[in-house]
Order: sequence, then C-alpha cells, then structure tokens
Amino acid sequence: MTQTALYQPSAEWQANAHVKGMAAYQSLVDEADRDYEGYWARLAREFISWKTPFTQVLDSSEAPFFKWFADGRLNASYNCLDRHIEAGKGDKTALIFEADDGAVARVSYSELLTRVAQLANALKARGVKKGDRVVIYMSMSVEGVAAMQACARIGATHSVVFGGFSAQSLRDRIQDAGAVMVITADEQQRGGKALPLKAIVDEALEGGSCPTLKDVIVYKRTGGKINWVEGRDLWLHDVTQGQASTCEPEWVEAEHPLFLLYTSGSTGKPKGVQHSTGGYLLHAALTTKWTFDLQDSDVFWCTADIGWVTGHSYITYGPLALGGTEIVFEGVPTYPDAGRFWQMIEKHKVTVFYTAPTAIRSLIKAAEGSEAVHPARYDLSSLRLLGSVGEPINPAAWEWYHKHVGGSRCPIVDTFWQTETGGHMITPLPGATPLVPGSCTLPFPGITTAIVDELGNDVPNGQGGILVVKKPWPSMIRTIWNDPERFKSSYYPAELKGYYLAGDGAIRDADTGYFTITGRIDDVLNVSGHRMGTMEIESALVSCTELVAEAAVVGRPDDTTGEAICAFVVLKRARPHGDEAKAIAKQLRDWVAKEIGPIAKPKDIRFGDNLPKTRSGKIMRRLLRNVAKGESVTQDTSTLENPAILEQLGQAY
Ligand code: WT7
Repeated sequence: MTQTALYQPSAEWQANAHVKGMAAYQSLVDEADRDYEGYWARLAREFISWKTPFTQVLDSSEAPFFKWFADGRLNASYNCLDRHIEAGKGDKTALIFEADDGAVARVSYSELLTRVAQLANALKARGVKKGDRVVIYMSMSVEGVAAMQACARIGATHSVVFGGFSAQSLRDRIQDAGAVMVITADEQQRGGKALPLKAIVDEALEGGSCPTLKDVIVYKRTGGKINWVEGRDLWLHDVTQGQASTCEPEWVEAEHPLFLLYTSGSTGKPKGVQHSTGGYLLHAALTTKWTFDLQDSDVFWCTADIGWVTGHSYITYGPLALGGTEIVFEGVPTYPDAGRFWQMIEKHKVTVFYTAPTAIRSLIKAAEGSEAVHPARYDLSSLRLLGSVGEPINPAAWEWYHKHVGGSRCPIVDTFWQTETGGHMITPLPGATPLVPGSCTLPFPGITTAIVDELGNDVPNGQGGILVVKKPWPSMIRTIWNDPERFKSSYYPAELKGYYLAGDGAIRDADTGYFTITGRIDDVLNVSGHRMGTMEIESALVSCTELVAEAAVVGRPDDTTGEAICAFVVLKRARPHGDEAKAIAKQLRDWVAKEIGPIAKPKDIRFGDNLPKTRSGKIMRRLLRNVAKGESVTQDTSTLENPAILEQLGQAY
C-alpha cells in the first residue's frame, strides 16, 4: 500500500471546526491517555443532561460486561428533545422529511416532542412498561423516528427491524427479543412503488408463533388495502388520538438497554446487540459533533435507514441530541432518477452529507452513463463536509466523490465502526486530520484501536493483523440478548488479552500510522454495506429440504456492491444443466429472499455433485473463494477428497 495523495484541512477548517487542527486532536488523545476515566467523565457531563449525576465512571468488576456511569440516571428522549426546547429552540426544525414522491414536511423540536409524547402515552396506555421490548418494522418516516424516541421516553427497549427483512427474519427477532408490541406501517413507499409491511407482520405472527406479542400498531402511510386482526391491530392515529401532549420521561439508569439491534455473525443465528442508554448516547452525540463538525446552522443528511445502526446513531440519536436539523428521506437514490441525492442536496441546501460507498459507486456508474444525473448538473455549493460508512471506500470512488460531489473543497470522513461499537471508532476529524483516500485514518480521541496478531501481541506498522480495541469505551455493546456466552466468545476470546475483537483485518501505514481496513476475518460478508453471515445464508438454503442437500456460501469482490454472495449447492437430485439449472437457481434465490430477505439473495448459484472437502469432511471455503472469483486454483489440492470437483463448480450452466 502506498499512501500518496494527502489532503490537508484548509486554514478555514482548522480555524472553525470543533476540533481545530492536529494539535487539538493530539491533546484530546493525550488527555484520554493520561486519565481515561476522567476524559470520558468530562465529556459525559458536557454532552448529556443527567437527572441524577453519576459518581462512578467505568466499572470493570464483571469484565467483559463493562458498565459506564452506572449510578447516573437520564432519559435519551429528554436529551434529544426537551432540553433544546427548554433552551429556547422549540421552533427550530428538527426533521426535514422528504417523501418518495418529493413531498416535504418540516417538523420542529416542539412538534416532534408533542408527537413523541402522545405516542409514548399511547404505548403506556397499552401497558408497555420500562424494560419491555418493542419491535419497530417501519420505513423511513417521521413516525419511525418518533416511535424510537417514544420507546426511549418510557424506558421500553426498541428493536428496529429493517423493512427489507422477511416475515421469517422478523418472527425470529420478535421471538428472541420477547417483544410485546410491533409498530409498523400499512405499506412503505419506495421508488414509486408501494411495498407491504403490515402483510409481512401478519405472516410473521401467523399461528400464534409469538406468544409475548400483544399489540400491532399500524401507521397509515399509503392507505393500501391490508388485512386487520381485531383485538390485536390498532391504528397509530387512533391510539394517539386524545393523548396528552406531555409525558414525563422515565429516568433510567445509564446501563438501561436503550435498544437491541440484530446483526449477523459467524453462526446461522443473528445476534441481538444490546446497547446502553448513557454511554451509547454520549458517543452518538460526541461523534456527531466532532466527526461531522455539526454546527447549529447545518443541514445534516445521513442517508442510512433507521433499520441499521447508522440510522440509530446518526439520525435518531446523535443529531437530535445536539439539537441539529436533519433530513429524513423515504425513497431511494435512483428514483425518479439517479440524480435524486444531488437534487435533494440542492433543494434543502444540505451542508453535511453521509452515505455509503456502494451508493456512491452506483451513482458514479449512472452519472457516467447519463449527463442528466451527473452531480455537475446540480448546485451542490451548500455542502461543506462529506462522509462515508459501511465498507472500505476504494480510492477511485473517494476521488470522484471528493471532486464531483464535494467540489474538491469538502473533506471526506471515512468512518469505520460497527453495530457493536455504537459510533465511530476510526475516522478523520475534518478540521484536523490530513486525508488519504481509502484510509479511515486515525482512532477517534479516547478510542484505543490497535492491530495485533492471533495472541494479542502488537504488530508493527506496515504489517497487517487483527483489529482490536484495547480498552472498553462508553458506547460498546453490553451483551448479546439472551446469550452472554456468545458475547464473550465472539468479542472477548481468551487468547486476545482482554481486547475487544472487531472481526476485521487491518493494516497501519508504516509512515503515518493510518489505518486501512482490509475486510472481515470471520464468515461475515458485506454486500452493499449490508452485513450478512455466510452461515445464515447456508442455513436458509439447506432449509429448502425438498431440493437442497448441502450448501456453502462465500463472498467474491463486486465492483458495485463491494462483495457479492456466491452459493455452491448440492441438490438432492442430479446436477441440473441449462434452463433447468437457471430455473432452480431462481427458485433458490426466491427461497432465500423469503427466509431472510431480498438483500440476502445469492448473486451466483453454482451446482455441483458435491463440495470440495478435506478427508475429514471440512468444506474448503478458501478454494471456493477462488472458484467464485473465476480464478484457477493454483494451490495444493492434494488434501482434497475430490479435487475434480473444483473444475465442475467453476462451470457456468
Ligand atoms: C462492518 C460493520 C458502521 C455502520 C454500518 C455497518 C465494515 C464499516 C467501514 C469503513 C471499512 C467498514 C467493517 C465492519 N465497515 N465501516 N469505513 N471502512 N469497513 O455496520 O453492519 O455492523 O458492519 O462494516 O467490516 O466490521 P455493520
């Protein structure tokens, strides 16, 4: 790796940003080094309004189940809404909602609080209490953000399920969380089409499969025809009707679980990542302020869905905790055409824009194909900062984003983090860090990321290894819901000296010490910034018992989606050819969509008489990765039971 291009922050950035220049960055790093707990305690007092101030900072007595600020009490919704209104900012716009069809609604802090309070009162009236789990299965909407905030207000733990997950996935999550309520919409409107939500909830709840669940609250978005179960289903507008517009926040302990968010790991079963209230909210707010340099006048736009952690930290919590103004977008980047993002930046005078490399790459392709959707056609002069998240951004996409979207004047913050970390871990700070395309640069001040070998020993710069975090930090995952043992073995394996294992490989530049993420070291794929477990897709495939005998899933590089899912399948019948193979491949793709969701559909499906295995029966995934890439296998295959199979699996049908 050679790090040639280096972009220095302008004098103006260095003078005006919240973190001004590298010396300021370094002094924060030093402060945390000198007095780790003192540093986080100072920030926790500055960024959070506590009902009961904490006296304890970090409690490691039950490591790796760390606690932060444990005797403090707060409410996340109070911190995101009430305190700004008390400070006289009630009329400030909190959310600018743009619908799929371009209609715009602006919601002030006072209005948002009223809606949150009414919904919170409605939830209480339905018997939802502190500690109950509420699943939110909604599209991007003011109501979705309000539903999360309403849960936070009453101390209910929300678990948002992305609207692209299937009934089966939704059912698994409702069951695992033991949810008492689902908040959904009749349909979601995306790309000019109405897509079902309530119908999927109905399917998930079929046959009394979720005994803990009492109510389904339905936001009427499209008015499309839906099925109605009397006694279980309630309209959102009915339950909020007549509710008081104030609702005393439930003051919870800092460690109270604000939310669960299911994510994929290296086994078949998604894990419910549990986050705290105090430590989580601190880092969401702090990173929004320093990484995005959020100022009072900014119009911030994070394009992520609230179904992912990015939408939690950088839509629902971070920007609102700071009293910012942000865009909530219902639609997709390509509707009505691939100029939609640029057109919305122009229209709303967006100043800070945060999106994913996969979106950038597909918009580059579109812009290269048609002048009409090229960012040059739009006035993007309001932009001052760009961000990237979800996967490594390749230097070519970085340069294009910098030049054509950022007008060569906006820094790009390439933010590395995970569902489990709650907020940014390695990222440039725009008024301080010189940028290198393709590198997420340096740790956020106070975050102790490092690169080690399999035994937890530091490796020198310039040499790749395993990415770890040496010290616990406030917004870290607290546990896996219902599975503390899995939490320990996934993130704190015994051999790693008590460091947090991120699951990514990384390398630091020999000269600058800058980090570059080299990709997952476990069986997790990143497809269009969506995290998928290969085992999860394999178990979905083999659950098609009528057809599938065995399946192995690997990733291969893809120009647009980063990685693509490639499945190798052994059928219970003879290996199919030609049209029959195509038809079965389609059937299996649809099956996976039904089991997990359309985002998990394999791009390639190859059929074989069997799979490459060692004599002890272990599937050689390394070889399958070569086959998936279309490479000829040059490694030694003498340990293989059946070397000829590689050629067969490499054949198209
Ligand atoms: C995985 C986490 C972070 C919120 C969205 C995804 C990859 C994320 C970057 C980046 C390189 C990145 C990692 C990580 N990743 N951001 N800037 N550069 N890789 O959250 O679904 O929990 O996925 O996404 O592999 O482990 P997630």
